[in-house]
Amino acid sequence: MFSSVSIVKRGKPTVTLLGHFKGKSLDSASKATDESGVVRAALKRGEATGDVGSITEAFDEGGHRFIVVGLGDAKTATVRTMLKALGSAGRRLAKVKAGTVEIALEGAIAQTKLDDWRAGSAIGEALGLLSWDRNTFKGSATGDTKREKLSLVVGDKSLATGIERGLGLAVSANIARDLSETPPNIATPDYIAKQAQAIARKTGMTCKVFRGAALETAKLEGHINVGKASENAPCMVRLEYKPQGARATASPVVIVGKTITYDTGGLSIKIPAPNMAGMKRDKDGGCNVLGAMHAIATVIKPKKRVVAYLVCAENSISDEAYRPDDVLTFLNGVTVEVTNTDAEGRLVLADGLAYACAKDKPSHIFDMATLTGGVVVALGSTFAGMWCEDDALRGKVEEAAEVAGEPVWRMPLNEEYRQQMRSDVADIVNSNPNRKAHPVQGAAFLSYFVDENVPWCHLDIAGVHMVESDSGPYVKNSATGFGVRLLAEFMDL
Ligand code: BES
Ligand code: MN
Ligand code: ZN
Repeated sequence: MFSSVSIVKRGKPTVTLLGHFKGKSLDSASKATDESGVVRAALKRGEATGDVGSITEAFDEGGHRFIVVGLGDAKTATVRTMLKALGSAGRRLAKVKAGTVEIALEGAIAQTKLDDWRAGSAIGEALGLLSWDRNTFKGSATGDTKREKLSLVVGDKSLATGIERGLGLAVSANIARDLSETPPNIATPDYIAKQAQAIARKTGMTCKVFRGAALETAKLEGHINVGKASENAPCMVRLEYKPQGARATASPVVIVGKTITYDTGGLSIKIPAPNMAGMKRDKDGGCNVLGAMHAIATVIKPKKRVVAYLVCAENSISDEAYRPDDVLTFLNGVTVEVTNTDAEGRLVLADGLAYACAKDKPSHIFDMATLTGGVVVALGSTFAGMWCEDDALRGKVEEAAEVAGEPVWRMPLNEEYRQQMRSDVADIVNSNPNRKAHPVQGAAFLSYFVDENVPWCHLDIAGVHMVESDSGPYVKNSATGFGVRLLAEFMDL
């Protein structure tokens, strides 16, 4: 929508952005901004409901435009409502080709429980996320897609600090969204690895890519099998953020991302055809983990080490494809009867989790994946499914989710569900033909690959990794980068 968004010291705003709440008159700071009183007059109009994202406009005698965005109920304002409101305001700013805009929301924010800095971050995130556009693959048949740059004039200091931070987080999320968007004929496992290496180089992280024989040496049985039918060979990326002075021996937080660059279902092929379309986004777990690592290295800079694994493969079909009935032996000794080659995500994640537990001795471990259609049925596009049986970790994840405006909902996991994955042939099946508790099966399967003493959180983002229609700061049929900001905020708590 914008070619870039940045804060400028000087500049003549053509628009002033204000906020107001449902059933409340304008706060005194906003009143002072509204010297001529045109805003107060406009807020008497019927459309000025104060609903989240509603827009009211006013012009003073000099033709200066005021955009007043509805922020909902002052008492219940959250980062999520701010993201939604600013998504709407940003769209209007793009439409009127604002150029330079004065952000005068501090008066409104003072009426909420949010502090300036936190609300500022949400404003920066929303405008930064809105700046994302998908023009990369537009060709000669498409007309001019030129975008305008947006400059922000921000009077309030802590609001400005927050906005700067939020814009940084949005840059990271947009990296993930660009990757998600990239089609599977370009975004192969190797392409993802190269992007990760470039990001590592720019941000001072270390990056190691496991290919071919290195995958065998690491005994990544699930990963190798899932990837072996494709001419685009599988690889695993290990990224490490290490702050200065951090002891190499101190346990890191580890994040594993499912990075299936295309999911045909394999021999258990996805039918009917519409079930396959869109599976370029089956890499979004990994893309979003990469975005989170970018945010961690450039914005959050925590004092703790963070390690990420992107397990990259294409789930394809050839005479070399792994098959239903195959039995795989994983590096932790667990044997798996393959019952369905379309339950491939858990096989590559199992390797990432088991490998990280063995090599990195994590203090906490996450995995993020577009794992099941079942979680979409259960939770829709509102919450990501969260499985976390460690109370302390779960509390922190819920807090990070709240702060990021990326909500999660707890799903169950216990021995009874784990038993549902038992196999007659091997230890466990990768999918129980009985589809009962479908999204829980994925988590139950993965639990066999995480060391018992390591607090673990599984996030199934199949319902929230993209939006089908314009929503908040996101554009229709595009990736959200869900989890980039959540994981970054987690490291900032
Ligand atoms: N990548 C899919 C899950 C998915 C479905 C993501 C829809 C986004 C939208 C995953 O690999 C898959 O195929 N899951 C199967 C598992 C089943 C075969 C056990 C599913 O959910 O149906
Ligand atoms: Mn699948
Ligand atoms: Zn998949």
